[in-house]
This record gives sequence, structure tokens and C-alpha cells, in this order.
Amino acid sequence: MVKLSVNLNKIATLRNARGGNIPNLLQIAIDVQKFGAQGITLHPRPDERHITYKDVYDIHSIITTELNIEGNPIDKFMKLVLDVVPDQVTLVPDSINAITSNSGWNTIRYKNFLTEKVHQLKNIGIRTSIFLDPNPKLVSSVAKIGADRIELYTGPFSLGYANNKLNSINPYIITAKEANKHHLLINAGHDLNLENISFLIKKIPNIVEVSIGHSLISDSIYMGLEKTIQMYLKKINQFYIKDN
Ligand code: PXP
Repeated sequence: MVKLSVNLNKIATLRNARGGNIPNLLQIAIDVQKFGAQGITLHPRPDERHITYKDVYDIHSIITTELNIEGNPIDKFMKLVLDVVPDQVTLVPDSINAITSNSGWNTIRYKNFLTEKVHQLKNIGIRTSIFLDPNPKLVSSVAKIGADRIELYTGPFSLGYANNKLNSINPYIITAKEANKHHLLINAGHDLNLENISFLIKKIPNIVEVSIGHSLISDSIYMGLEKTIQMYLKKINQFYIKDN
């Protein structure tokens, strides 16, 4: 089964707009698990404009499913994750002012930097994943860096999906095959939604985890969180259920 990890940054953004505790992020983290999601993703940015560093500690102490923390491994971030020890850390090359993550790593240029960070994380038992553009040429350097997984940056897939599904998925299929060759497991995330998620998973059946925030939280405004999560789970696992 493909795991669904729900990114809660949008909930934190809404809460921070008023400075109080509405909506209650911790309650939502508990509910997201209760409604069937297999994990929670948090992406604390250095300016803490969405998820705060305190949120990371609070959520880590109450959830029972998998915690994935994403971010650029600057000193402040590394200190946080080495202290919290989540199940997984996804390294993302986001600049401080980026509205959202907008590219994967150049794993050739940043090989030494990433190798050092991955070793620090793996030394204390944290699974590591590297956010990657759909470029098969970068995969062997991820293996050399020593990471456990790649997270395919699905922004370009989502953009191209409306015009030409097959063209938009092709580089991902090739990159996923390369990852298989190097024994790297595959996560995927960014701009995934109820329209495009089934196609992605049908074409890349070895994806093990998807991390979804913006669309899922937006859908829940109309459908409620429980129904929305169940709809995503159904779409994510429909091929698995049929084939087994
Ligand atoms: N993966 C990474 C590395 C991200 O930065 C984000 C956004 O925070 C996501 C996945 C989830 O993207 P979206 O909010 O578009 O579903």
C-alpha cells in the first residue's frame, strides 16, 4: 500500500493568521491519523511562518503514525531534527523566501554537503529522503550520498498533466526505474490532488509514500477532513486493491 502523509503547513498558516489557536493544529494532527492517514509531514521554514519549531515538538509528542520533517538542512533545521528524531527527514533545497519548494537538489553539485547531512541523520536512525527533480542522471549521486529514498518533485508533473499526461509522467517513470536500480525507495510530493494522484501511482507503482498538503486541505473545506482523507486513500490505493 502507498502511504499518505498529510502536510499540515496550511493548517498552521491559517492558525497563524490570527495568532491564537484556531484551528487547533494538534487536534487536527490527531484527527488526520484517526481518519486513516499513515503519516504527518511538517515543513518548518526558518521564519516559522507556517509550522513553528514548537509545533514540531508538540506534534512529535502526540502522534503515533510516521512523522516526516522536510526542510533545507541549515544549522537551525539540523539541530531541530537531530533533537526530535522523527521517522524520516526529507532534505529540500528551499530558499528562505520561497513561497513553496520549487525544485529538487542538484545532487552532483551538493554531493559533499548532502553526504554530511545524511550521515548525521542516519547515525541516529533517521530515514533520509532527498527531494529530486525527475532527472535520472541525478539518481546515482543520491545512492552515493547514502540516502534511503528520493522524493520526486511532482510540481512539473502536475503542471503538465492537463495538457499531456503521458509527456508529463515520462521523466518520472525513467527516474523511478533508475532509483529502483540503485535500491532507493520512492516518495512523491507537491501539487498532487484528487485529479492527478491515481495516474501518478498507476504509472509508478513502486511509489511508497506521497506527501500532500495544499489540495487536500483545500478539498477538506468543501468535503470535511474525514471524507477528504478517505477519498485520497481510495484514489491512492485503487490499483493496489484491484491487482491484489
Ligand atoms: N513535498 C515537499 C518537499 C514540499 O515542500 C511540499 C510543500 O510543503 C509538499 C511535498 C506538499 O506539497 P503540496 O502542499 O503542494 O501538496
